[in-house]
Amino acid sequence: MSRITRVGRSALVALCLFTPGLASGQAVQDPPKPFEPVSGQAGKDVVWVPTPQSTVDAMLDLAKLTPSDHLIDLGAGNGITVITAAKRGATAVGVEFNPDMVALARGKAQEAGVSGRATFVQGDLFEADLSKATVITLFLLPEINMKLRPSLLDLKPGTRVVANSFDMEDWEPDVRVTVPECTSWCTAMAWIVPAKVTGAWQLGKEMLTLTQRFQFVGGTLGAAGITDGRLSGAALTFTAGGRTYTGRVEGDRLVGDGWSATRLP
Ligand SMILES: C[S@@+](CC[C@H](N)C(=O)[O-])C[C@H]1O[C@@H](n2cnc3c(N)ncnc32)[C@H](O)[C@@H]1O
Repeated sequence: MSRITRVGRSALVALCLFTPGLASGQAVQDPPKPFEPVSGQAGKDVVWVPTPQSTVDAMLDLAKLTPSDHLIDLGAGNGITVITAAKRGATAVGVEFNPDMVALARGKAQEAGVSGRATFVQGDLFEADLSKATVITLFLLPEINMKLRPSLLDLKPGTRVVANSFDMEDWEPDVRVTVPECTSWCTAMAWIVPAKVTGAWQLGKEMLTLTQRFQFVGGTLGAAGITDGRLSGAALTFTAGGRTYTGRVEGDRLVGDGWSATRLP
């Protein structure tokens, strides 16, 4: 063996001894780069595009979010909505399919000091348990909103559903705002899940017959037609025979100021 070869061999042995993994045949690798999401990256049913902070703020304002709320963001992305809700004192859960996004969002919640109230579940938004939610936030696609719509309408009356930009077709939002000085994804909409009132009710001696299209209510009270009928969660108001009735739906009863009605079988 020549002198040069002997030197080369000892250098290689030294390199193997002092480089973890190399002696066992592994290649030297750079440490893994932290995951960095890219706007427009693929997602299971919809790509990731973040809601701008100003639109998140507008959405939570429309929801009138308070610390007693339990918010669920379906398709939580980097966690911006969940973290903002937690900063406002609410309990917030994000459901996100992409595990890298879940890890990113958890890290951001920790950095923001709200990881106790802002949590993330890796899973499919169509399988999420929404029963505890008082506020649901969405930035998905029109067809996904429509797929979710029946389950949303079955939530407890008064639950607020808030969406960025995409609507629910003929379930009109109760309120809609355009965020000023915002350049993309600037429309926030909120729906209040209406109670179900369609059917016949006994109101004093008269028959109250209610029909309902989401939050809009029509029908008759005795011979009089109903006008301006509207539900906001369980709060009902309508006008019939020159009188305006305001009350609340309480199970099989409508309870108003000076009037009440009972649902007929
Ligand atoms: C448009 S982004 C909205 C992110 C976040 N909510 C926001 O407003 O910034 C939609 C998110 O939904 C996630 N997603 C897509 N399909 C999903 C599914 N079936 N279940 C859970 N998450 C899903 C995507 O990975 C993406 O992060």
